[in-house]
Amino acid sequence: MKCLELLLFLLLFVRDIGAQWNVWMPRDISAMTNSCVVIPCTFMYPASIRPYRGIHGIWYFGQPYPQLFPPVVYKSRTEIVHESYKGRTRLLGDLLQKNCTLQISNIGAEHSGRYYFRADLGGANIYTYPDFTELKVLDQPNIDVPEEIVTDESLDLTCYAPDNCPEMSPEIHWMYTDYLPDPLFTTDFVEEGNTAVMSSTLTFTPRPMHNGQLLGCRVHYPNTTFFYERLISLDVKYAPRKVWVNVSQEVMEGNSVVLHCDVDSNPPPRISWHFKDEELMSDIASNASLYLESLTPEQEGVYTCVGDNGYGVMNTSLYLAVRCKCKILLLEGTSLALHCGTQGNPAPTLTWLKDGELVGTITADEVSVLELLEIRPQADGTYRCLAENEHGRASTSLNITVEFAPILLDDSKCTIVREGVQCVCIASGNPEPSIEFYLPDLNITINETNGRFNYYTHSDGYTSTGMIKLRDKGERGNNGGTAVHVHCSITNMYGTETIRLELQQEKKYMMAVIVGTIGGVAVIAFIIAAVRYVGQNNKKENSNPGQDVGSKVENPSMFYSAVKKDKQSLRKKVGDDSDYQPVGSMAGLERQELNYAALEFMRGRPREGGLGRGDDGSDYTEIKAK
Ligand SMILES: *[C@@H]1O[C@H](CO)[C@@H](O)[C@H](O)[C@H]1NC(C)=O
Ligand SMILES: *[C@@H]1O[C@H](CO)[C@@H](O)[C@H](O)[C@H]1NC(C)=O
Ligand SMILES: *[C@@H]1O[C@H](CO)[C@@H](O)[C@H](O)[C@H]1NC(C)=O
Ligand SMILES: *[C@@H]1O[C@H](CO)[C@@H](O)[C@H](O)[C@H]1NC(C)=O
Ligand SMILES: *[C@@H]1O[C@H](CO)[C@@H](O)[C@H](O)[C@H]1NC(C)=O
Ligand SMILES: *[C@@H]1O[C@H](CO)[C@@H](O)[C@H](O)[C@H]1NC(C)=O
Ligand SMILES: *[C@@H]1O[C@H](CO)[C@@H](O)[C@H](O)[C@H]1NC(C)=O
Ligand SMILES: *[C@@H]1O[C@H](CO)[C@@H](O)[C@H](O)[C@H]1NC(C)=O
Repeated sequence: MKCLELLLFLLLFVRDIGAQWNVWMPRDISAMTNSCVVIPCTFMYPASIRPYRGIHGIWYFGQPYPQLFPPVVYKSRTEIVHESYKGRTRLLGDLLQKNCTLQISNIGAEHSGRYYFRADLGGANIYTYPDFTELKVLDQPNIDVPEEIVTDESLDLTCYAPDNCPEMSPEIHWMYTDYLPDPLFTTDFVEEGNTAVMSSTLTFTPRPMHNGQLLGCRVHYPNTTFFYERLISLDVKYAPRKVWVNVSQEVMEGNSVVLHCDVDSNPPPRISWHFKDEELMSDIASNASLYLESLTPEQEGVYTCVGDNGYGVMNTSLYLAVRCKCKILLLEGTSLALHCGTQGNPAPTLTWLKDGELVGTITADEVSVLELLEIRPQADGTYRCLAENEHGRASTSLNITVEFAPILLDDSKCTIVREGVQCVCIASGNPEPSIEFYLPDLNITINETNGRFNYYTHSDGYTSTGMIKLRDKGERGNNGGTAVHVHCSITNMYGTETIRLELQQEKKYMMAVIVGTIGGVAVIAFIIAAVRYVGQNNKKENSNPGQDVGSKVENPSMFYSAVKKDKQSLRKKVGDDSDYQPVGSMAGLERQELNYAALEFMRGRPREGGLGRGDDGSDYTEIKAK
């Protein structure tokens, strides 16, 4: 230990008196191609040496060992230098002043490397200093880019150009900065360790839109044709700023649907789809599709897509309505009110369309009621309630089918034809009536299961046609008279009518006599209607659990219920989950307006296998499955 300390002391002491072989030159220096560089250099030699015949110097390239013949960059004794330095090097320093400063002009890439100085003081006093300067030849300026560029945080980008050539001083410009908000440029000149660097700092606050944009730095030496450029592409990190999902939609039970989600963020997020409290899928990508097949009513609800990239989280939801494959059947003569409720900001207008055509009035209320009084078969059709505001439109539809007892149509008759007598019976009804003939004289019933006499039947929509042909007298069953006794019965679930068809030889007219009516309109015990929640009209009048949530919803969503007209209690009410069944949701013209969060409706009564029901035994009992 003592020994080492002593040695250190001696070394320091010796150095202090400055009598050693020493050189000072920058460890690193850089220059642009085609420009020049001055390597500042001073050297020392032991004080004991008295140089005679002057001091000479040599600059070597690559290595310090003369015996390995490194390329000679400069030699003060002769002009002989390596080919690649011919005419390019000049000693600026005065060796007698121990100044070995060297200039290299017209620099090329091949000049990159280490430069060593060798002092020749005459005789054996020749020494190559082991210290060297490493020259870096650049063909592009350097840009200092922070490792992470985050949106909305002020950013400094600095472009550097070496400034070590006294004859040529660089000018730095930033390129493609036109689109930047308030860019600030600061020029600086830094001298450090005998080398100089010119810099220009660009300061601005990047935004997500700047991600991927190009920026450039250009270095130019005035009065030369030399340009040096470097381009960088900005990688601006930003939290998800948009999560796009499909518009809310209605899908028929059993069908499949693909819900698409697109997230705008950098880097790409972990994207996931959620339903209720479950994560259905996830991926690290900018988009993700959720495949839902064979939809069931339980899959109706709010689907949320979440994007999370570590810089932030964002989600957007949509409402998927799973429509039961049902139609609403109403008995003729029933009255019905269709309620369409909506929430939106601004308040949407509501329009009713029947089979695509406007019916009723356009309102700007939260609820629009379409009353269908004393329904006739013509009321049959698709009713659609359309809500529109400036953010988009939403609609929901309802198919109404009117059911009615069979009615005999005028064309029913028996006529004489060549082969005998032909009887035709035509009836309309919904469900389509079945037709049966009865020949009282023969006590024979002719129908689909019991066909005879060329029995033929055909149904087309709500109209059924039955036909029989009686060839001879035996078939007609009378005893030679001209009268033919044929009864026709038309039946559906709402009633039966039996008519006696009489034959007129002149075929002028046909008489139909209503023999009897079994069942019929008046006797129908139940009325099939669209109403699920009838009878609750007077309940829960004041409860409105969803109102608060609903009022924040930006887009309209839609509900329907049908209420029996004669209760005269068509209330304006939204959000009472006992009255509204979500059937649809909003659509949007612009994707970014599609945020849907009509969560209050989630509390709605669950569907029951696609069948609605009246809870109170009222007239409205069911929605018939198709
Ligand atoms: C060495 O010479 C150069 C060029 O003449 C000069 O700029 C520099 O100041 C000198 N260095 C010292 C230490 O005198
Ligand atoms: C460029 O050249 C012009 C005229 O030749 C001269 O006036 C000017 O000083 C030069 N500029 C530089 C930076 O050398
Ligand atoms: C959801 O959106 C994607 C992309 O916008 C579209 O291709 C797809 O058809 C949409 N799906 C539905 C069910 O609308
Ligand atoms: C979804 O992302 C993939 C890469 O993650 C991309 O190739 C594809 O184009 C994207 N699709 C859409 C519709 O954006
Ligand atoms: C969606 O975002 C809202 C707030 O912005 C948050 O309350 C909710 O929990 C998020 N939903 C999911 C599924 O992450
Ligand atoms: C209504 O009927 C039409 C035509 O029959 C059908 O295309 C549509 O899907 C039905 N809509 C509903 C909600 O049942
Ligand atoms: C008609 O035939 C049925 C059996 O097919 C029989 O029960 C019924 O008594 C007959 N009626 C008359 C009036 O003969
Ligand atoms: C046809 O008539 C027979 C005898 O009256 C009856 O048993 C059968 O149910 C009828 N079939 C149809 C389809 O109405």
